[in-house]
This record gives sequence, structure tokens and C-alpha cells, in this order.
Amino acid sequence: PPPAGVLVASNRGPVSFSLEDDGTLTVRRGGGGLVSGLSTAGQGTGAVWVCSALGEPDRTATRAAPSGRLDLAGHDTGGLAVRMLDIDPGTFARAYNAIANSTLWFVHHLLYDTPSKPVFDARFRREWASYEAYNQAFAEALAEEAAEGAKVVVQDYHLTLVPVLLRRLRPDLRIGHFAHTPWAPPDYFRLLPDDIARYVLEGVLGADHAGFHSRRWALAFLDCCADVLGAAVDRDAMTVTHAGHVTEIGVHALGADAEFLRERASRADVDTRLAGLREAVGDRRVIVRVDRTELSKNIVRGLLAYRELLRTRPEWLGRVVHVAFAYPSRHDLPEYREYTAAVQRVAKEIDDEFGTGDWQPLILHVNDDFPRSLAAYRLADVALVNPIRDGMNLVAKEVPVVSLLDEGHGGCALVLSREAGACEELGEDAIVINPFDVSQTTEALHEALTMDTTDRLQRTKRLAAAAVALNPQQWFLEQLDALDA
Ligand code: G6P
Repeated sequence: PPPAGVLVASNRGPVSFSLEDDGTLTVRRGGGGLVSGLSTAGQGTGAVWVCSALGEPDRTATRAAPSGRLDLAGHDTGGLAVRMLDIDPGTFARAYNAIANSTLWFVHHLLYDTPSKPVFDARFRREWASYEAYNQAFAEALAEEAAEGAKVVVQDYHLTLVPVLLRRLRPDLRIGHFAHTPWAPPDYFRLLPDDIARYVLEGVLGADHAGFHSRRWALAFLDCCADVLGAAVDRDAMTVTHAGHVTEIGVHALGADAEFLRERASRADVDTRLAGLREAVGDRRVIVRVDRTELSKNIVRGLLAYRELLRTRPEWLGRVVHVAFAYPSRHDLPEYREYTAAVQRVAKEIDDEFGTGDWQPLILHVNDDFPRSLAAYRLADVALVNPIRDGMNLVAKEVPVVSLLDEGHGGCALVLSREAGACEELGEDAIVINPFDVSQTTEALHEALTMDTTDRLQRTKRLAAAAVALNPQQWFLEQLDALDA
């Protein structure tokens, strides 16, 4: 295949394969905010997307593609070519689970219980070596696929070393890095071993442009560069100069894809699920949350706030239902499995304490069903988005857009954590909370449930407008434009 002028790299790709009972491979669209943003955005750009084979079916599909690029004929990928990397499963697991989703994810989301974790020992060093090898495999594949002077946009914490490794192989390329997570402040970032902390920063600084969803995370990155590397940081020009190379820092706040959402949320499968939910909740008020079952999403404290609402404001007994969708994520990690169990435990306590023959106070589902999530958005009177920390949080942006679909519904009040990147754009019309303060969250839920209907609709309209300010296509083009020499 001819070399590409635009390349995207991310761990999770736009498609993934599964093996059917009859031995055939079927292909599905990948999940998560990064993939949903990029999949539509990259279409029509002729880009090659380099990603990782995540399981055995992906590996099988990859081995059947001798050129490295997958045969996606018959699938609407909008002209995107996909190359999946078949990385040794052990190496992949250590890089993805132990380093990316444990160490780096935990650092950037402030998730460590520090009296016991993290522990950086010989085992960690072996895991780190795998992370390096995995990043090197991406750098080599990109170097192979890229045309002279091509633009490469590398996504997220799985691939922080790729920019510097790729620059060594191909100094002619224009390289970008984009972080979908928050960036840790220096004091917390310094939990990492000194050499690793430096390597992570130098990895990103191999890029010509480093992008973030919010100004806050961009500034935290600059602070880390100054404190940990002693790099020359210019906060007005938003540049870092290190080892003779200048990296520009940019803020590109990914917005919701209004066109896609409106079309998808109007389909029959969503209508069917909406009817089912309506039947379950009756004429009661509805508080909705939709997340991966993810430690940073703070689902347990959200449930505790709902319990406190029912305990302290008995006027809501029998008059409200909390619809919580917490679909599975990263279950190879024990912390995630334990967290799912904790969510289910608290949910059961709430049901035991308040449930009656004709009122189910909480509807919790722990499986993924996108059309059902869209139906819940259409039904919601209140959306609860209370992460401990979040790079962006697209749910906060999707809900207002979808909740305006049904005329007469009156929009949806948003209770939003101040620690979500989305709060930078939505803070004015949301009810903003400290995610650790359960009682404040309880009060915010009450305020949201009792919000004046005109006020609620006005706010929803402003939230929706802010949510779509930079659609995925524009967001992607901004990343490419930032790489113009
Ligand atoms: C976050 C990350 C993405 C990731 C997604 C889903 O949004 O920023 O890079 O793809 O979570 O997580 P997973 O581990 O399932 O890819």
C-alpha cells in the first residue's frame, strides 16, 4: 500500500473483531470517547489508523492481512485504513494493564491509596520494559507507513513514548500527541520514579504539538515540564523547549457529535428502549448516569448521594428513580472488578432500604447497550456526572444535545463535577459539585430535581450549544492544522 500523509495512532482502534460460534470473524465499532470522536473525524482524510490487536480475534484478523492493513471491505469506515499491531500478548498485557491502565491512569486521575500503593519494584521495571517495547512497536509501524513529511497524531497515555521514539526513526515527520486524560499536577506526578517521570514527559515532548482537552490539564503538563525536567516553559506562548526542540501546547476541547447523536437517538431501537424505561419509571422524576464502571467515575459516591437524598428528603420517596448504567471496563484489573462489586453492593443496599412493591428506587445495569443509554438521555430530568477527575467526559456533553430531541420534554438539569474537563465549558449552566462531597451532591440533586422548568430548558439549550462548539471533525482538523510547519 502507498505511504500515508496522515496517520493516527491509538491503543484501541476504530474496529474490533469477535469470533462467532461458526468460526467466522465479525467486526464491530470500538468503544470509548477517544474512538467515537476519532472514527467520524478521520473519515475522508485518507488517514491510516495504527492500533493494537486487543484480543485473539483481532490477532487472527491481523495475521490474515499480509500488508499489515486490514481488509475492511463491506464495512463503512469512511475510507480509513486500519493497521492493527499483533504485539506479543504478554508484552501487550503488561503495557496495557500494568503500566497504562494502572500506573499512568492512576497517576493522572489521582487514584492511588498512597499508604499501600504504588510500589515501584523489580516487577514494575519488567512491566515498564514491556511498555517501552509496545511503544517502540507503534513507532516502527508508523515509521513504515508514513510518507515523507507526513502528519502523525498519537493519542493518549498508552503511547506517551511514541513521539520521541518515532522522531528518532523519522525526523522528517510532523508529530502530535493528544492526551484524553487529565494531566497530574507535579506533586502527584512525582510519585513516579524519577527516571520514568522524566521519560514520560520527554516522550510527549518528542512531539511538535501536544494537545489537551482543557486549559487546566495543559497547564499541569507545563508545570511538570518545568518542575521535573527543568525545561524552558513559556506559559504565554504555550511552548516547552527541551533538548533543543520546541513543543507547542494546545487546548482542543472535543465536543459532542450532534449530527450523529440526533440521528442515532431517533432510531427505532432507541424508541423501543425508551418505551421500556418509561414503563419502569412511570411518571416519576428520573436521575440518569452513564459510565464505564471506572474508578475515576465516582459511581459509589454518586449512589451514596442518592441514598442521602432519600434519607434526608422523604418527599422524594416513591417520586424519583435513579437510572444508572455502569458498563464493564478493564476487568483484567482486580481494582476494577472490586469496584464493580462495590457499586452493586451499594445499589442493593439502596434497594433493600427503600424499595417497595410498586417503587424500584434504583435501576442499575452493568452491561453495555448504547441505544439504551441514548434512551435514558431522552428520558432524564437530571444527569449526574460526578467524576473524581476526568479528561473531558462526553456524557456531560451528549445528554443536553439528546435531551432536546423530544419537544415538550423540557431539557435536563446537569449536576457536574468541577474536576471534569467538560466543566471548563459547561460550568456556568450546570450545578457544579466537589465530587468528594456527598452531601453537596445530595443538595445538588435536590436542586436539579426542583429546578424551574423554564430555567431548566434555557440552561439545557445553552449547555447543548457549548457541548457542540467543536465537533469531532473540527477537533481532529485542529490537531492536524497545529502540525503545519
Ligand atoms: C478513556 C481513554 C481511552 C480509552 C477509553 C476506554 O476514554 O482515554 O484511551 O480507549 O477510556 O478504555 P479502554 O481501556 O477500554 O480502551
